[in-house]
Amino acid sequence: MARSPLPSIPTRLTDVEVVGAARRGIAFAVVVPSGADTEYTEVMDRLRATGKAAEVSLLPGPDGPRWLVGVGDGTARDYRAAGAAFVRAAAADAGEGGDAAGRRGSITVQVELPAQAGPDHYGQFATGVLLGGYRYRVSMQDGAAGVRKVRLVAPTADAAQPYADAVSRACELARATALARDLANTPSNVKNPAWLANTAQRLTADLPGLTVTVRDERWLAEHGFGGTLAVGGGSASPPRLIEAVYRPRGVRAHLLFVGKGITFDTGGISVKPAEGMHVMRTDMSGGGAVLAAMRAIAALRLKVRVTALVPAAENLISGSAYRPGDVVRHYGGRTTEVTNTDAEGRMVLADALAYGTSRFSPDLVVDVATLTGAMKIALGLRTGGLFSGDDDLAQRLRAAGERVGEAWWRMPLPDDHARDVRSDIADVRQVPPGPGGIVAALFLREFAGGLPWAHLDIAGPARSDRNYDEVVPGGTGFAARTLVELAASYA
Ligand code: BES
Ligand code: MN
Ligand code: ZN
Repeated sequence: MARSPLPSIPTRLTDVEVVGAARRGIAFAVVVPSGADTEYTEVMDRLRATGKAAEVSLLPGPDGPRWLVGVGDGTARDYRAAGAAFVRAAAADAGEGGDAAGRRGSITVQVELPAQAGPDHYGQFATGVLLGGYRYRVSMQDGAAGVRKVRLVAPTADAAQPYADAVSRACELARATALARDLANTPSNVKNPAWLANTAQRLTADLPGLTVTVRDERWLAEHGFGGTLAVGGGSASPPRLIEAVYRPRGVRAHLLFVGKGITFDTGGISVKPAEGMHVMRTDMSGGGAVLAAMRAIAALRLKVRVTALVPAAENLISGSAYRPGDVVRHYGGRTTEVTNTDAEGRMVLADALAYGTSRFSPDLVVDVATLTGAMKIALGLRTGGLFSGDDDLAQRLRAAGERVGEAWWRMPLPDDHARDVRSDIADVRQVPPGPGGIVAALFLREFAGGLPWAHLDIAGPARSDRNYDEVVPGGTGFAARTLVELAASYA
């Protein structure tokens, strides 16, 4: 059988489970807070270990723990960082030797957490293990995770359930992040709009209550999605609209998620510089986060109705590409004066926001997009920009992010710049002058139908070029967990 050119999605993650008691004969780690006086204090002093978060010391000798893992002050983030550092260290071990039979990716390890660790700490540590051990590779070798299974030992066997529950919820959230990473990391010679749509359908088929419908370019033309068709017009792979509906019985709250699904962004006729263009394969990270969140929301059976839209298009350059100076009519009739074909995200989002708000009349709408390079400059690479005129929604998003380890910073929507969105020859101007992230948000607001709305600009944190906390290089899956947690806050 011919081998698929790419690893199958979703990539396999380490299994993490809570066990009632440690089992002998399995290599184990002990997690220690900094400054704690434990039976390992002496050996730590000898190794000059301090117990700071994510510090991993390898112990010699056949008896006792193989690793000591610092968890510093024991904050949620410390536990995630510790889990991630531990799994990397254990994987490095496995990479060198493998198990007794020399098999890579088949070791099982055991972890004893500090006595003061509660269920949430177990969940955070599990998140670190699952996501810190995530790896996406296209290679001749099988890319098995270095560690097959991590057993987290509960404080007592008869009170393990709350710990197991916290860990299983953390696993569901981590799976969402990992799926969002898989989608973002898939190279664009495979990931065109049709692939993204088919993959969304395939990955949600087993979940009751969740349906994915794919609209093709003909449907988009019939329904007036001019922004999506303009952006996708330069590519041989036509655009799609991915519509995911999760509707459990008997629930009232209805959320709409909209995610940018640009499967590759060359900039179009307003072409991007060659240097760094390759990372634009992750320009569908917002859409990936939305789709992955839908999967987790359905898997967790949250009692909230959620509809998701991902307008997917490839922003390429050809004789049929759209041009600066074009005027485009969006779903619902509003027109945009195009000035820069590289501002394609807002073109497809405008259609989807207009369609979603009028078609579904949700209680609120949240869009997620790698929208502006300006946000990387404003907030750096580890914080997402949060725009909303609705204080309750903004606060819920910030709090949701805080609980799951995704940082959001609220940005303003100033009135003086709102005026600049008007165009002389069309209803709105695609790229008004002024601060890039803010005017993009103000442009999108025009299409949100006056509903409570939030816009999440993840251009910074959607990608990483290094390991930190539970993040690894490549797509980070940022925003997927926040969306699940937001939905849970309405359930
Ligand atoms: N996808 C980019 C934004 C981006 C840049 C995301 C870097 C991640 C990393 C977006 O489509 C874009 O090109 N935005 C332009 C807008 C400009 C033309 C108004 C930008 O930010 O330069
Ligand atoms: Mn662009
Ligand atoms: Zn883009």
